[in-house]
Amino acid sequence: MIATILRGRTLTFTARPQGRDDAGSYRYEEQGAILIVDGRIAASGRHDQVSEKAPADARVIDHGDKLLLPGFIDPHIHFPQVGIVASYAANLLEWLNTFTFVEEQRFSDAAYGARIAEQFFDHLLRHGTTTASAFCSVHPASVDAYFTEAAKRNLLMIGGKVMMDRNAPEALTDTPEKAYSETRDAIERWHGKGRALVAITPRFAITSTPQQMEVAGTLAREYPDLHIQTHLSENDAEIALTMDLYPEARDYTDVYGRYGLLGPKTLLGHAIHLSDREIGAIVEAGAIAVHCPTSNLFLGSGLFDLARLDRQQVRVAIATDIGGGTSYSMLRTLDEAYKIQQLQKNRLSPIESFWWATRGNAEALGLVERIGTLEPGSDADIIVLDRSATPAMASRDRDDLSLEEELFLLQTMGDDRAVAEVYVAGEASHPDRAP
Ligand code: GUN
Ligand code: ZN
Repeated sequence: MIATILRGRTLTFTARPQGRDDAGSYRYEEQGAILIVDGRIAASGRHDQVSEKAPADARVIDHGDKLLLPGFIDPHIHFPQVGIVASYAANLLEWLNTFTFVEEQRFSDAAYGARIAEQFFDHLLRHGTTTASAFCSVHPASVDAYFTEAAKRNLLMIGGKVMMDRNAPEALTDTPEKAYSETRDAIERWHGKGRALVAITPRFAITSTPQQMEVAGTLAREYPDLHIQTHLSENDAEIALTMDLYPEARDYTDVYGRYGLLGPKTLLGHAIHLSDREIGAIVEAGAIAVHCPTSNLFLGSGLFDLARLDRQQVRVAIATDIGGGTSYSMLRTLDEAYKIQQLQKNRLSPIESFWWATRGNAEALGLVERIGTLEPGSDADIIVLDRSATPAMASRDRDDLSLEEELFLLQTMGDDRAVAEVYVAGEASHPDRAP
């Protein structure tokens, strides 16, 4: 048995905060500790109480007054887009055709995929993200590259082979039959191996024929416990083309609904431009609208109306959408989400934001028993945040900052530099820090 005690200030959420100062939604300890045994959290809370439960020979790592949180979760990201972040385009479809569909072709080469996978997981860990749900490319080799590297680092990662059989370069398309067999192969090779989870991944309506959507629906019926990830209503031109391609569908959401792809494990990236009927269908299915703020601003896609979705009780998650998104950092992502809500006269509170990037995203993924909190029994995926990581942040720091003020400072000014350490299943795993 390997036992470790992490000391520091600890913060974990127990429920979604209702209002700015909902102290009942989290547990915060100034003199906190987390006991880790064999990669799992055995206890967390007040240091004096936690240390009583620890074996005498437990290793102690003291993070001083830094803040210990569950690792961030990024439920919508594209592994093959590491090399095209910050590509200059007028809108989503131009960006896809000019940069994305060119770069993703390189992932037919297993060696290239393996090299990018190393960089990808370095980036995630450096930014404090310990679980992500990623689109791979259409190539099975990209799925192997992704999960091979995730397994090396013992990371809980969701990923899927992108299904796309039209409206893309030939080298980037499969067929309904290949999409089915290659997804099944990926499931057999990876799903449930170690911490890997495979997702059924039809890219979006434009790049799948009705026959391929059928196949995705078949897989969803055959593997009901798998996540399904796709894109929905990100951009006006995308929506118009979708309705041309699926004239029988009532609306964009109905394209997925009619093929059996809407359920409580369905992650709908963006979900910006929705009618009341679509929102109703999403709520009825229990599907998740995944907000991607840096991407929506970068590509000029639109403003996610969180207040409206909240009123109608849509399940919501928040993600980077790298490489349409512009930062791997969930801190930067929370900041941009805050600004998008500000523009709509909806003020997100910092405690709600940090709930969202941790427990909220874990709940959205149906994984809250495993990740997203510091509850005993959870995997010990933990980050250490430093509110005065940069000179500018240090100038803003005060001894008497409240927790809420500290979180707001971290999300407004913080990035990877604010991540002092990251633990994956109890092991120090920051790529730039010597263990
Ligand atoms: N819609 C279909 N594919 C993509 C993608 O790779 N990125 C974004 N942002 N939207 C998409
Ligand atoms: Zn995306």
